[in-house]
Amino acid sequence: MTKLSTLKGVCDVLPPEIYTWNRIEETSKEVFKSFGFHEVKIPVIEHSELFIRSIGETTDIVGKEMYTFMDKGGRSITLRPEGTAGMVRSYVENNLHLLPSPQKFHYYGPMFRYERPQKGRLRQFYQIGVEALGSASPLVDAEVITMAHTFFQKLNLTNLTIELNSIGCNKCRGTYRNAIVEFFSKKGVLCNDCQVRIAKNPLRMLDCKVERCVEQRTGAPVILDYICEECKTHHERLKELLTAINIDYKENPHIVRGLDYYNRTAFEITTEHLGAQKAVAAGGRYDNLVSDFNGPATPAVGFAIGIERLVALVGVTQNQNNPVFYIAPLGKDAEDKAFVLSQSLRQRAIVTECGDGLHSLKNHLKRADKLNASFVVIIGENELKTSQVLCKRLSDAFQKEIGIDDIDTLIAFAAEKPGATA
Ligand code: HAM
Repeated sequence: MTKLSTLKGVCDVLPPEIYTWNRIEETSKEVFKSFGFHEVKIPVIEHSELFIRSIGETTDIVGKEMYTFMDKGGRSITLRPEGTAGMVRSYVENNLHLLPSPQKFHYYGPMFRYERPQKGRLRQFYQIGVEALGSASPLVDAEVITMAHTFFQKLNLTNLTIELNSIGCNKCRGTYRNAIVEFFSKKGVLCNDCQVRIAKNPLRMLDCKVERCVEQRTGAPVILDYICEECKTHHERLKELLTAINIDYKENPHIVRGLDYYNRTAFEITTEHLGAQKAVAAGGRYDNLVSDFNGPATPAVGFAIGIERLVALVGVTQNQNNPVFYIAPLGKDAEDKAFVLSQSLRQRAIVTECGDGLHSLKNHLKRADKLNASFVVIIGENELKTSQVLCKRLSDAFQKEIGIDDIDTLIAFAAEKPGATA
């Protein structure tokens, strides 16, 4: 039989890496809470139409990368490629606009894109996403960017770059679109996709990865030269606010984002340490998406962090699950006692590993050492007779006899510093 393996671009997350994942998730929850964001869980599967209408038909995500299938009821279903569309659907469906604005949410989970896998680019990847719905103020743009910055600082990542742009609004983007079309019409042959994009969605051409298109866009008009007064004021105020709390940023007029719902603020948080896939987080404003889904006019802003990329930057976290106690029963009779003792310790949330009664003391000690346990509790025939167990601290081999049911003394011994008793 052929050996089974994961699908291409899909990964298992195992110890010790999972501890970095846990640390990231816990840190995000702690930071987001302090900014008044609430956790939500949104579905992994949605009607395909949700993504087509929000992300945009001419984007790579919708055009090439969606995992779409017909369910048994003949509905077109898609595994979510991102979280914003689902969050907005939920906001409209659950009438969340009736609650005080802005409503601020965060979510965590797997996303799916049929991309060409490479370092930092997967087909199933995890995102932590945040969305603030119901405020048009640049203060909220500044708030979410500051929140990302604070989160990365808590993870000791200080050498990330915040790249900022404004991509204007429906009012000013028309003029820019015309300038782009005029610019590229005078250029040589573009890739097949860009030949479609120039007619349907010219801004997407600025995001094309095909070499000859990349080369030909040198000198292309820059959006910041075309945005209207309101967009400009919004952008300037955001920059002032970031400066006010000493957050460095770099203006990058080339950020257009790979999703169509954005307007005004667009940003990416990038690193030089991950090769080609530089963006650890990305987001922006999407003031029209709620009304596009038949909700009330609701300006919004958010971002998402790619967890695998972040894990690669953070590195391996210490295993927090090493046993405090390894219980070593010698013989079948001691096994019952060992099992009961283990349960008493586990009920007190003390990480405990229980060996079985078939192994020799030497084997138990070897295993305890491999598991990085701090103490071994030996229960042999003699211990059963005297109702005393032998508790051995592995760091300095100091040992003590303790009553078999005296959990408090056992725990107190584990809390003693080596040297204090030696
Ligand atoms: P996005 O730029 O498509 O935006 O993805 C955000 C982040 O997810 C990227 O910066 C990257 O770190 C990670 N990411 C994306 N694709 C992959 C992949 N194939 N493999 C590994 N990591 C990946 C969004 O998804 C928007 N929903 C963000 C947003 C929220 N905008 C407003 N609110």
